[in-house]
Amino acid sequence: MGDRVRIYEVGPRDGLQNEATAIPLETKLGFIQRLASAGLREIEATSFVSPKAIPQLADADALLPRLPRGGGASSTISVRYPVLVPNERGMARAEAAGADALAVFTAATDAFTERNIGMTVEASLAAFEPVLTRAAELGWWRRGYVSTAFGCPYTGAVDPHRAVAVAVRLLELGVDEVCFGDTIGVGVPSQVTTLTDAATGAGIELRQIAYHFHDTRGTALANVVAGLDAGIRCFDSSTGGTGGCPYAPGAAGNLATEDLVYLLDASGYEHGVELAGVLDAARFITAALGKPLTSKVGQAGGWDAATGSPIGR
Ligand code: HMG
Ligand code: MG
Repeated sequence: MGDRVRIYEVGPRDGLQNEATAIPLETKLGFIQRLASAGLREIEATSFVSPKAIPQLADADALLPRLPRGGGASSTISVRYPVLVPNERGMARAEAAGADALAVFTAATDAFTERNIGMTVEASLAAFEPVLTRAAELGWWRRGYVSTAFGCPYTGAVDPHRAVAVAVRLLELGVDEVCFGDTIGVGVPSQVTTLTDAATGAGIELRQIAYHFHDTRGTALANVVAGLDAGIRCFDSSTGGTGGCPYAPGAAGNLATEDLVYLLDASGYEHGVELAGVLDAARFITAALGKPLTSKVGQAGGWDAATGSPIGR
């Protein structure tokens, strides 16, 4: 595997979906502009789900057409803005709003999926079929999430082969990539290794796999290292370390993008994202939420190896 890593930013979607404070549309756009300026090129922008389920993202139809299409210094740089779509209704809304990339989302366990989207895993796959067929016709990039891949808040331990079986089904339905979610942040590195081995053993290619770690118990970065060692080159993170799901009780924020960027920089991986810009976006969004910035690198800053001093504080 090469040394290039994709950082898939989920702050505007996962980071905000569980926040009680209503964030104005302009603030969301300011956040996304800062993320794009920091060099992030895949930014999960919002969800076309029921506004009753996720009131914070009820402005998806208005947000999407206003996203900055260029980032950084050059306006020709394109940013991919995937949106979550649970059903055909969501697909119609996403299409009308001008989306060109989506993520469908199911789980390894029925208990979670039923609470999250009101369907069994099997029913969710059936619901995604027309959505993914339409998205393919339109030439959209397509991701499929498998939540609770490391453990379920309702049924406990999850057999990795169960998560892999769902991922295989999603790939058969035409997704470009599957993303295994540690929805409640219970996973440890040995599970990442086992799950990756099970996935490749089932014929899934490493480049088709992404990981999405919530940092509830402080294991997210360790899990990233296990993923890197196994050859995975795409990781989700949320600038400012925000995040959670209303149907995943006890889940804390996602792995913070600034913590991931620091680790990748110091380990010699290329990713194209600037730490200072991420920290600026992290401070912007946590201030808007009225919360302190609690990520490790958000508090300590980066580190300049030439001078030994913290940077970006
Ligand atoms: P439902 O109530 O079972 O289904 O919801 P329904 O078809 O009976 O619809 C109920 C109402 O929602 C109806 O409106 C529909 O029209 C409307 P009413 O008649 O009551 O006025 N509706 C919609 N409205 C707008 N957009 C739509 C839509 N669909 C139906 N697309 C449904 C089923 C899937 C809609 C609902 O359960 C839902 O929206 N769930 C979303 C939950 C969610 O977003 N969870 C968080 C994302 S997943 C996550 O965070 C995990 C992840 O980060 C990875 C990880 O951490 O593991 C990805
Ligand atoms: Mg999540």
